[in-house]
Amino acid sequence: MGTAHTRKKTHTRRLSKRSGIFLTFEGIEGSGKTTQCHRLATTLTTFGHTVLETREPGGTPCAEKIRTLLLENNLSSGKQESITAECETALVLAARAQHIRHHILPALANNTIVLCDRFTDSTLAYQGFGRKLDMKILATFNDFITQGLTPDLTFLFDLPIQEGLARRKRDKNQNRLDRESQAFHSRVRRGFLAIAAQYPRRIIIINGREKPENIAQVIEHTVINLLQKRARVKT
Ligand SMILES: Nc1ncnc2c1ncn2[C@@H]1O[C@H](COP(=O)(O)OP(=O)(O)O)[C@@H](O)[C@H]1O
Ligand SMILES: [Mg+2]
Repeated sequence: MGTAHTRKKTHTRRLSKRSGIFLTFEGIEGSGKTTQCHRLATTLTTFGHTVLETREPGGTPCAEKIRTLLLENNLSSGKQESITAECETALVLAARAQHIRHHILPALANNTIVLCDRFTDSTLAYQGFGRKLDMKILATFNDFITQGLTPDLTFLFDLPIQEGLARRKRDKNQNRLDRESQAFHSRVRRGFLAIAAQYPRRIIIINGREKPENIAQVIEHTVINLLQKRARVKT
């Protein structure tokens, strides 16, 4: 009896702290995350919702500085200091701690729809599958940093790595991760799909080869369904 009571109280507290909705966009380089995150932000804003469009690593001044450290090219040139897989992990997590505390949680407490370009699944896919670090340790680190904050829904953009990388090359702003080996990117893609198989209720796989308009429609439809479901629960 005591346990059920405690569980009910915790649930109520969590809901009251989090009136907003948390959606994340995941996938390999060039899969269309930023494009769709931005489109959805525009659509939801037009519908009158309060939206926070943000990204990882980054989202706060401190976390954006960490992003620059993580993505700049010269550190991995061989002539200078390379970033170890462990350092990369620690930096990503440090940026996430700042992002959650100073940006995401305040927005969620304030009835905002938070759209986040990459989140915890990227840590498992890149540092776990890509860099081959211990998945259990990474999952524990993720829990430590997020303190239980999980996305309401995650859109995973999937497409062959060559197509994603070719799109990024067209953009000409290649970062340190874009320049990783094909084997690395393949492991990351397979990693994302494995994670999606583990969390089928949270993660929706999107075919990144579809036209942007079609993808935007699917995402919009899914999010509107979620918003309607939430509105019914609240009334
Ligand atoms: N569905 C799509 N089909 C074709 N090109 C796309 C599609 N989505 C995005 N792009 C283009 O591919 C490039 C990478 O897209 P972007 O959204 O930045 O990917 P990501 O954020 O996942 O790296 C951009 O030039 C973008 O205009
Ligand atoms: Mg992007």
